[in-house]
Amino acid sequence: MLSIENVRKKYAKASRDAVDDLSMDVRAGELFGFLGPNGAGKTTTIKMIVGILTPDAGTITIDGRPMRGNAIDVKRKIGYVPDAQDSYDRLTGMEYLNFMADVYGVSPESRAQQIERYTKLFEIDGALREPVRSYSRGMKQKLTITGALLHKPRLWVLDEPMVGLDPHSAHVLKQEMRAHCDAGNTVFFSTHVLDVAERLCDRIGILRQGKLIAQGTLEQLRSDERGASLEQVFLELTDGADGEE
Ligand SMILES: Nc1ncnc2c1ncn2[C@@H]1O[C@H](COP(=O)(O)OP(=O)(O)OP(=O)(O)O)[C@@H](O)[C@H]1O
Ligand SMILES: [Mg+2]
Repeated sequence: MLSIENVRKKYAKASRDAVDDLSMDVRAGELFGFLGPNGAGKTTTIKMIVGILTPDAGTITIDGRPMRGNAIDVKRKIGYVPDAQDSYDRLTGMEYLNFMADVYGVSPESRAQQIERYTKLFEIDGALREPVRSYSRGMKQKLTITGALLHKPRLWVLDEPMVGLDPHSAHVLKQEMRAHCDAGNTVFFSTHVLDVAERLCDRIGILRQGKLIAQGTLEQLRSDERGASLEQVFLELTDGADGEE
């Protein structure tokens, strides 16, 4: 479903590659967790997957089509929840959702259904007439999540989606991520919350200094140490080190 081949990205003036010859595959129906220390290159990778950044080298293929040369068609298949909320502060919640539905060409019937479903689920249905600027951080996050799901994306990409969510909302989000995969779609998300990754993911990839240092099921990752927690595996592999140096 998602294939990353020998992808490289270096920011201008940086001394090393933010993403360094990265290759990985995520299958359809898979819930894939992307871990790694601060500065490891997770957000940079995600921005290349969703087409915001262009790789310096390598290929990203989604649902059999390379991003390069097919950007509009490929982006239609993706729902993206960024790590920082975009500020559409002047819009009301409902205006924002209709804007997102327009961008993705969602039909009036389908958008009404989807908006009702997710805003009720995330308990922001009562705030949709209010301007986004009056929303709390978690409410903005839930609005962004809703906006990313209106077109029923084949690939749902989330960058640290649990940040700022209360326990109930985080629980709902985890259930929706799983349900999205069970319906045959694919979810790719980054997180620092290791017990979420441990319990939720089908497979996990660990990035360090732009390189994939491990990937597999939790069982595979801890094959050397039976019964080790993901935290123990993570700390061992990343050497407790901060990728930034
Ligand atoms: N816009 C930018 N310009 C220059 N360098 C950048 C930029 N964004 C990120 N970097 C650098 O690229 C590297 C990877 O950053 P990235 O944001 O992808 O890491 P991350 O794994 O998402 O970290 P975190 O867990 O803190 O979110 C870091 O060294 C960072 O300093
Ligand atoms: Mg990041």
